[in-house]
Order: sequence, then C-alpha cells, then structure tokens
Amino acid sequence: MTAAPDLADLDLAVLEQAVDAALARRDDAALHVLGYGEITTVFAWPEPDGPYACKRLPLFTKARFAVYQPAFDEYLEALAARGVDVLPTALVHQTRADGWIVAYCIQPVLPRDALLPEVMRQAGGRDDAEHQIGTLLGALIDHLARVVDERVGIDAQVSNWAVADSGLVYLDVSTPFLRDADGRDRFDCDTYLESIPAVFRGFARRFVIPGVVQTYHSTRSIVLNLAGHLTKEGLDPWIPLTLELARERLGVDLTPREARRHYRNDTRLWGLIQRVRRIDRVWQRRIRRRPYPFLLPGPVDRRR
Ligand SMILES: Nc1ncnc2c1ncn2[C@@H]1O[C@H](COP(=O)(O)OP(=O)(O)OP(=O)(O)O)[C@@H](O)[C@H]1O
Ligand SMILES: [Mg+2]
Repeated sequence: MTAAPDLADLDLAVLEQAVDAALARRDDAALHVLGYGEITTVFAWPEPDGPYACKRLPLFTKARFAVYQPAFDEYLEALAARGVDVLPTALVHQTRADGWIVAYCIQPVLPRDALLPEVMRQAGGRDDAEHQIGTLLGALIDHLARVVDERVGIDAQVSNWAVADSGLVYLDVSTPFLRDADGRDRFDCDTYLESIPAVFRGFARRFVIPGVVQTYHSTRSIVLNLAGHLTKEGLDPWIPLTLELARERLGVDLTPREARRHYRNDTRLWGLIQRVRRIDRVWQRRIRRRPYPFLLPGPVDRRR
C-alpha cells in the first residue's frame, strides 16, 4: 500500500493558516476536498494530489488531547493486531494562540479509483461483477468477525476502505472505538460535542452518543450501517449480497428493508445535526461576530 508521506516536509503552521483563511472566507474551495464525512472534511494538501490527505479534528483542550492521543495510537495497534491493514496515519498537532489544540490525521492521498466505493462502481458494469464485488464484501465482512467485540469497534462503511494489491485497507481511523476492560469508552465524546451548539450538548451526550458509539461495537449494527450506506454511494443493488454474506459468515440476519430503513433514519439524524450546526455557524458569525472554528462538511452527497 501507499507509504506514509514524509512529515518532515509538512509545515503545520502553514496548513493551519490555509484552513483558518478558508474558515474566515467561509469557503473551502482552496483546500482540494477529497471527501466530506458526517463530522469533518478531508482535503489534499498542498496540491490537489497531495502528498498529504488531511483530516482536521475537532479542537481539543490540553486535557482532552492527552486522552485522545494514546487512545488513537492504541486504536491503530488494536486494528493491526486484529488483522486490519490500516492506511499509514500520523496524528500531528499544535497549540493555537487561543490555547486550543488543533490536530490533524495525515495520510497519503489515495487515487479515487483505489477507494472501495469507486472500485465497486467500476466492477458493477462487468460480467463477473457479482464475483468481484462478492469477494471484496466477503473480505470486509471477514474483518468484522476478527475485529469487533465490546473492546474494539469499527465503522465499516464502504467509504472507509480502499483496495490495494494486498487486499482491503482501512482509512477512517480518527475516532478510536476502544473500550477499557470495565466497558468505559476511550473515545471522548465531549471533544466531538464541541462542534454542536452548547444547548444541545447535554441532550446529545445523554441520548444520542451512547447509541451511536454502541453501533460500532456490534456486528449486527455495523452490517446494518454498511448495507444501508451502500445507498449513499449509489451501490444499492449490492445490499442483498452484503446481507447474504453477513448471514453466512457472521450469522447476522437482516433484510434489505431493515437496511434501507436504517439508512433513512440515520440520514434524518445526521441531517438534523448538520442543520443545527449550520444554524450555529450563522449565529456565531453574524450575531457573535466571531469566526466559526469548524470545517463543516459541505452538502453530503447522498444519492438518495
Ligand atoms: N487518504 C485519503 N486519500 C483519498 N481520499 C480520502 C482519504 N481519506 C479520506 N478520503 C476521502 O474522504 C472521505 C471521508 O474520509 P473519512 O472516512 O476518513 O472521514 P469521515 O467519514 O468524515 O469520518 P467521520 O465522519 O468519522 O469524521 C472518504 O470516504 C474518502 O472518500
Ligand atoms: Mg468515513
């Protein structure tokens, strides 16, 4: 797989200045966006082909970063120990003038046609599509059997994988789905909650986050999410095959109807969160007259 980019050439202060300028201009056009997720934006830097793929994490307090950094390292180790080939990812950070810590996950930029959704879309037109796509989805599902338990979780959506000669490579590692032996999450939801307006934080911490995090520790809900989100990638026809493989290999029994319903509900939840965040952004900029400190995902491309 692509080697880690040489961090010696990365000037984080310059990168952060460019992001700050984009935030001030309210426009990420200069950032060569590679993909929008639900929480954040991944962009190529400094050129459209990299060499760096940068994911800016929510801002950390010093104390929260001291929790996050070891959890991130341990998560990469846990995935590797369970047989997942993780795209080389460096966590870099610096303290800003206002005292917040800004951190980035830095990876090599992968060509678009190495990303699993694109590989599947291209394979979809071929005669042996069923075989090719079945092999990829089967390998993905076999990973779930090895990785997932109460201690280690994973977000297995197809958009989080790439395909190399050696097989599947996992790229979305910024949220460490790890739990201590006593069941406590190592993932500190308060950092992520910073990016939603304060009035909703208590509600989200109590009623939304625990359910969302649990989703990534159960093979059943991971498969539901994986299958449902095929719709987002225009890969809806492969939902039945995904569920068939999950039934055979994981003993998880789900219907396409359940997967589609899950996706609709999930879309509603994240759509609501994004709307609330956009309203907050207007409030912060126009009324409070201060720059909004998060790179919000642009309109998420949902094909349905
Ligand atoms: N190293 C990379 N090279 C090329 N494209 C990438 C790379 N990393 C991410 N992308 C693109 O950006 C998209 C979003 O990245 P990723 O899945 O890591 O973040 P995310 O889904 O926003 O995560 P979260 O929602 O957990 O914040 C990917 O699905 C992919 O299309
Ligand atoms: Mg992702």
